[in-house]
Amino acid sequence: MRAAEVVPGKPAASRVVDREVVPVDGELLVEGLLAGLCGTDVEIIRDGFGVLPPGRDHIVPFHESLGRVLSAPEDSGFYEGDLVAGVVRRPDPEPCPACAVDAWDFCRNGKYTERGIKELDGYGMQRWTVPPKFAVKLDPTLGDAGVLTEPASVVAKAWATASAVAARSHLPVRSALITGAGPIGLLAALLGVQRGLAVHVVDRVTDGRKPDLVTTLGATYYPDLAKVTAEVDVAIECTGAAPLIWECARRASVTVLAGLTGEHDPVPLDPGVFDGMVLRNKAIVGTVNAGLPDYLAAAEALSGASRPWLHGLITRRVPLDRFTDALERRPDDVKVVVDLA
Ligand code: BGC
Repeated sequence: MRAAEVVPGKPAASRVVDREVVPVDGELLVEGLLAGLCGTDVEIIRDGFGVLPPGRDHIVPFHESLGRVLSAPEDSGFYEGDLVAGVVRRPDPEPCPACAVDAWDFCRNGKYTERGIKELDGYGMQRWTVPPKFAVKLDPTLGDAGVLTEPASVVAKAWATASAVAARSHLPVRSALITGAGPIGLLAALLGVQRGLAVHVVDRVTDGRKPDLVTTLGATYYPDLAKVTAEVDVAIECTGAAPLIWECARRASVTVLAGLTGEHDPVPLDPGVFDGMVLRNKAIVGTVNAGLPDYLAAAEALSGASRPWLHGLITRRVPLDRFTDALERRPDDVKVVVDLA
């Protein structure tokens, strides 16, 4: 079978190699169908983010997966032919109080590992193995859209966080502001609409696929945050841009941060935001990665979504042999996937 390999920070060293996959006792053997590309993968390959597996000078990239089960241990609940996605993170071995209860997405000591990102090979290969506990069974009718499970899990955790924080102040959540209409923002909008909320999505683009996807969903699109006049209860901030973060926090009772700033310079504070946090119990809370309940929520959300809408998020496919083509950004790209077949 063939596998992608990269050296973090050395894009020219990217290659596709022949590899043997050895089935592991007690694990699923999976035929890799698709791998999704996200900003983290670009940061790994171009900028050297990520951590190599111990003693190795390369890593198999990609943490967004879709595969079909080739064989499964008896009593695992999985069967040959099942459509599955693999979980990204593995608990730290110590384990910390969070990992001890399988809440690896809240790992306290940073010793967790992540497939395709931190010390473990990713899903960018034609065959992979995974313990049943770290696989999620998908609605077989999802087809290629199953590759959106991991980003949807990140978003499901963001929504679970928003609900938990809103519940603290008895806030009835009726409307949401989503900043950024990339895959994370669009999936956040999907889950918001599925919750019956009035959803307002902001991005820079003025036309093309993103506004269309937002409108088709039944949400409202704005090319400028200043144009949003509606009141919003919750904001899910997916851009990491400081001015947008402050604006979300100024408007919403609960702001969930799902994007990294990428900034290294200090940014000016908005004192009004802090006063609102004190006087009106407003909150800003960050979220990363996802736990098993979030993956299950993601699988359910995707299963209940319109198939043409989900497929509309996948804007480009590149073959495994040319997986580095996925890295070049094209204007109307939403989710670019690597075809592993
Ligand atoms: C992934 C998360 C991961 C994070 C940091 C994101 O792109 O979706 O699962 O925890 O990167 O490595």
